[in-house]
Amino acid sequence: MKNTDLTRKLNFNAGPAALPIEVLQQAAAAVLDYNNSGLSILEIPHRGAAFVAIMDESRQLVKELCNLNDDYEVLWLQGGGRMQFCMIPMNFLGETESAGYVDSGYWAESAYKAAKYYGNAQLLASTKDINYTHLPKWPSQLPAGLQYVHCTTNNTIYGTQLHTTPACDVPLIADMSSDIFSCHRNYTKYAMFYATVQKNLGAAGVTLVVLRKDFMQRVKRTMPDMLTYKAHAAQQSMLNTPPVFAIYVSLLMLRWTKARGINAIDIENRKKAQLLYSEIERNSVFKPVVDSITDRSMMNVCFIANDSRNEKAFTDFCATRNITGIKGHRSVGGFRVSLYNAVNLAAVETLVQAMQDFEKE
Ligand SMILES: Cc1ncc(COP(=O)(O)O)c(C=O)c1O
Repeated sequence: MKNTDLTRKLNFNAGPAALPIEVLQQAAAAVLDYNNSGLSILEIPHRGAAFVAIMDESRQLVKELCNLNDDYEVLWLQGGGRMQFCMIPMNFLGETESAGYVDSGYWAESAYKAAKYYGNAQLLASTKDINYTHLPKWPSQLPAGLQYVHCTTNNTIYGTQLHTTPACDVPLIADMSSDIFSCHRNYTKYAMFYATVQKNLGAAGVTLVVLRKDFMQRVKRTMPDMLTYKAHAAQQSMLNTPPVFAIYVSLLMLRWTKARGINAIDIENRKKAQLLYSEIERNSVFKPVVDSITDRSMMNVCFIANDSRNEKAFTDFCATRNITGIKGHRSVGGFRVSLYNAVNLAAVETLVQAMQDFEKE
C-alpha cells in the first residue's frame, strides 16, 4: 500500500474532512479483508456476528466518551444532518405545539425552516442580519410551552462556537455535527444531540444520533417506522440495511478518539486554534471574520485578506506547500481553515509558517 504522510496533503477541508492516517489504513485493509475473515467489510452481512459486534462496540464507545448511562439511546441513521432537521419536528413537535430555534447560521436556520412544516417553530434569537458574525444572545426567559429548544453548537460556515451549554429548562437538542468530541462537554444537559459524521467522526453516509429514552417516547404523530426514532431504536439501527462501511469507519474514529482521550484532544484543539488566531491577528495580510474572541470556533477558523487580491494569491501559495481546503464558504468569502481532531498541531504550524512567508513576500 502506498503511504502516507509524505504524499498526503495537509487537509483543512470543512467536511468531508481529514481523517487520521492510521484510521485510513485500517479502513483500507478492511476493504480487502475484514479481520482475516476472507471477506471484505463491504461484503459481510449486516445481521452477522461481525457487524453486530461493530454496532455494539460503537454504541458502547459513544456512551463512554460522552459519559452517558443507559438512559440514553445511541442510533446510527442515514440522510445526514439534514434528515435530522426533519425527523426532530416530525417526532417531537405536534401540529399545534411550539418549539424554539436559535438561529446561529445557515444550518441552524435550515433546521428551523424544516420544523415550520410540522408545527409552530419559533425563532428565539438570530444573528442573520449581521451574516452570523456573532453568536445570537439566548433570551433570558423562554416562551411558555416549548416542546424543545434546538441549537447548533458549532457553526461550520461562519466560524462561531458555543463554548458553554446555555441554561434551558425544556429539552435541549443540539446539532453537534462539526464539533462532536472536540472538547469537554456535559452531554447529560441535552435531551438529544446528533452529528453527521464526515467532520470529526468518519466518512459521509451516517449520522450519529443520541437521545434520552424518555424523550424518545414523546412521539407526536403516527409515521412510518423509518421516520420514527423509537422504531429505529427497537431494531438497533437496523430497520433497513445500515451503511456498514461508514459505521465501521466511525468505530475506528471512536477507538482513535478514546485512545487519545477527550482531554488531550481538547488541549491540542485549543493550542491549534490559538496558534492560528494569533497569527491572523498579527499578520498584516489577514484579519479575522469573528471579532468576539469568546464566540470564535476552535474547529473552523474564518478569516479574510485585507486586500482581496491576496485571496487567490495566498491560496495558490498554499498549494505549492501541499496545503489544501482553505477556501471560505461562498457566503462568507475569504478563508476557512477547519481544525478537526484529525488535523494535528504540526499541520497548523506549517500553515502559520506559510502565512508568515507569504507576508514577507
Ligand atoms: C453544523 C452542520 N449541520 C448539518 C450539516 C448538514 O449535514 P449533511 O450534509 O450530512 O446533511 C452540516 C454540513 O456541513 C453542518 O456543518
